[in-house]
Amino acid sequence: MKILIIGAGNVGAHIAYLSLFSSLDEVAVYDIQKELVLGKTLDLSHSAGVLKKDLKFRAVQNLAEEVADIVVITAGMPRKEGMSRADLLDVNVKIMQDIIENLNEDLLQNAVFIIVANPVDVLSYYFYKKTGIAKNRLIGMAGALDAGRFRYHLHENIDKKISDLNPVVIGSHSKDMMCVYKEGDASLIDKAKVETQNAGAKVVSYYKGGSAYFAPASGVKTLIDAVIEDKNEIIPSVAVLEGEYGYSDIAFGVPVRISKTGISEIIKLQLSKNEEEELKSSVNGIEDSIAYLREKNLI
Ligand code: LAC
Repeated sequence: MKILIIGAGNVGAHIAYLSLFSSLDEVAVYDIQKELVLGKTLDLSHSAGVLKKDLKFRAVQNLAEEVADIVVITAGMPRKEGMSRADLLDVNVKIMQDIIENLNEDLLQNAVFIIVANPVDVLSYYFYKKTGIAKNRLIGMAGALDAGRFRYHLHENIDKKISDLNPVVIGSHSKDMMCVYKEGDASLIDKAKVETQNAGAKVVSYYKGGSAYFAPASGVKTLIDAVIEDKNEIIPSVAVLEGEYGYSDIAFGVPVRISKTGISEIIKLQLSKNEEEELKSSVNGIEDSIAYLREKNLI
C-alpha cells in the first residue's frame, strides 16, 4: 500500500514518520518547498534504515503524475495565537484549490482522501464539492484527534485508564465541538470537556508560531491503519452528510466506520433533545463558512 502526503510541514512530516509503524510499502511526500521534501524524505529513509523497516520514502516532483491508495492533505497555514481555525479559511481554501487542480484523475477516481488542513470540516466539504468524488472516499480528520484529547483529559479528571475510555466527539472541529461521555461525575466530565475544547488553542499558545502536530499526526495514523487493515473501526471523523442527523449539504464530525473503502458506515447516535440543540449550535459556524464560500462563488 502506498500513501501520498501533500504538505510536509510538522503534521505531514510526523504522519510520514509514524508510517514506519504501519504496514505500508511506500510513502510519497509532496510540498511546494521542493528542497525541504528532499531533506525530509532522505532523513525518513535513514530512519527506515535505522529501524530496519522496508518502507520506501520518496519526494514527489510532479504531483499530477502521482497515484496512491491513500492521500493525506495537510497543506495549509496553521493557526497562530489568537486565531480560530475558521480564520484560516481564505488562505487554506486557495491552497486546497491549487492542490485539487493538480491531482491526477486516476487518483481522484480511486484513492481514499484524508483531509487535515483547517478549518477541516469546511475544507472537507469544499474538497467534496470541487472534486465530486464518492463521499465514502472522503474522510476529514478531527474526531480521532478530539476524542483522543478528550480521552486523555477524562483520564486525568476521572481517574480511569486511557485504554478503558471510549468517548466520542462530534460536530465542528472548533471550540464548539460536542464532547459526548456520560459515565461518572458530571462536573469532572464537564471540566474534561472544556479542556478538550481548548486543547488545540492551548498548544498554539505554548508553541508561539504553530499548532499541534504529534496528536493530529497520531489521529491520521489511526485512520490510515483502519483503511489499510480494513478494520471497520468506529472513529469519529468529518463526513459528508446526506440526511444523517437531519443534515444535508454539509460535512461535520460524526462517528463513522473506517474500512478499506473509506467511510463504510455513518453511525447514528441517539441524541436527546438537548444534545440535538447542542449539535445544532456546534455546526452553526460550519454552515456560515459554507454560505460564505457560496457567496464568493467558490463552490
Ligand atoms: C488542533 C488543530 C490542528 O486541533 O486543529 O490542534
